[in-house]
Order: sequence, then C-alpha cells, then structure tokens
Amino acid sequence: MNNPLIVAHRGASYAAPENTIPSFKLAFKEKADFIEGDFWLTKDNEIVCIHDPDTKRVTEEKIKVKVRSSTLSELRKLDVGSWKGIEYKGIRIPTLQEVLQIIPERKRIHIEIKDDRELFLKKLVEILKQFPIPNDHLPKGHQVRIIFFNPTIVQLAKKYLPEIKTYWIFGWDFSKKKCLKSLAQRRLMQTLRTINSDGIDLNAAIYIDEKLVKSLRENNLDFCAYDVEKVEDAIRLINLGVNSITTNSPFKMREEIESVIARNKAIS
Ligand code: G3P
Ligand code: CA
Repeated sequence: MNNPLIVAHRGASYAAPENTIPSFKLAFKEKADFIEGDFWLTKDNEIVCIHDPDTKRVTEEKIKVKVRSSTLSELRKLDVGSWKGIEYKGIRIPTLQEVLQIIPERKRIHIEIKDDRELFLKKLVEILKQFPIPNDHLPKGHQVRIIFFNPTIVQLAKKYLPEIKTYWIFGWDFSKKKCLKSLAQRRLMQTLRTINSDGIDLNAAIYIDEKLVKSLRENNLDFCAYDVEKVEDAIRLINLGVNSITTNSPFKMREEIESVIARNKAIS
C-alpha cells in the first residue's frame, strides 16, 4: 500500500484560520507535503489568498467586502483570524508572494484559482517568475500545481504555464443522484483529454472506482482526491492508487494512514 502525498486543505484548517500564514505554517509543521490555498485578484491586481468572493465568513463581525472590487490595502484592514480563535486575532489576508515565501525546501503548493479572469493568469505568470520555489530534487515545474473547477480555465492555464502541472477539480454531484456513474466517467475522461489537463482532483466520493482509475492511468493522468477526512476514505483511495489526498488535518490523517499500513504489514 502506497503512502500518498498529503495536501493540507487551506493549510491545517482544522485548527488555524484557513488560507492564512499561520494555517500554512502549521501544515508544514504537521509534515504536509503540500499546502492548498484559494486565490483571487484584487482591484489593484494583487493576488490574495481567500476562499470566498467576499470576506464575510472569515471575519468575526461578518464584514462583507468583495475581494475583486477592493484594493489590497482595503482588504488588509480586516482581521481574518479572530473567527477561528482569539490567539489568531489580527491575522491578515496574505498575498500569493507571502505564501510562496514560507514554503520550505521540498514542500509544494496547490494553487486553486478561484478568479476566472484571464488577467489573473497573466499576474500569476509574473509572480511565479519572481518567486521561484526552491528547486531541489523536484523536476522543473513540479513545486507548484494549479487546480481549477472550470475546465476552460484549466485549458487556458496550461497555455500560460505549460511547465506546471494543472489539474481539473471535479465534484461528483452524488447527492442529487443526477449522474449515472458510467456516463459521468465517460464525460469526465472526454473533458480531461480536451482540455489537456495533467490530471484530476476529485472529491472522495463513492463514484471513484477501479474502472475510472484505470482510464486515468491509461491516459497518463494524475489522480488526486480532496475532501478526505475519514481514514476509511483515504484507505479506499490509496488502494485505488491515489497520488495525493487533500485534508484539513494533515498530521492526524498521516498518523491514521500509517497505523493502518503498519497493521496490514503485521498481518501479512
Ligand atoms: O482540492 C480542491 C478543493 O480545495 C476544492 O474545494 O471548496 O475548498 O475550494 P474548496
Ligand atoms: Ca480550495
């Protein structure tokens, strides 16, 4: 059984305020291989790290400031730490550059683009040139991965940054029971081929099976999974050959996976 790469979803967001420097630092302390963060472009063309299009959910006083129509300095006035705990009072929204600067050697980042404007990609190219992440043992372009829900943007991102691995994020709509598994799998593979994606980031749903993973492998596509909070889900995905799993609790997840692996070894 392989031990997959662990991606810390919005940092170690189970404990620290999501998408902030403390959350990313804690993730690395908890031995995550990757951090994952969500990014938007501000009115004055700065790339900032926040999940929602506005600040309401991550401010204690529920202050709704729209990210795309505000400047960096306007956004920086807001405290995005207190809502998670008093010890995080005064924490500010970080820029992409600030996040890149704290990535230690041999660690990596999933940049989730939330902003679907082409200008975002232009700015991203500029920043990634200025802030190369230490290029240690990893092949060129492997320190950063770009992920996006909109397949059209994945295709565009690949044109702007051909050396960087770019994955399409897909969430199975299982609650509505809308999609027939085989049909959905066929469409999914078709889209992946059309957009020239390097792989897929799927939520940990029951629809992921051997057939789908076989098609992904035959097409030389990476297979990542997100929303993995239960060790049973992680083990099922590992048995299917997942490359990385994205979780809010990197240390706990790693410990639980390793203990299952050790138990299995002892039995065999
Ligand atoms: O890895 C994909 C995952 O981050 C997408 O979910 O809602 O956290 O952006 P969300
Ligand atoms: Ca995300």
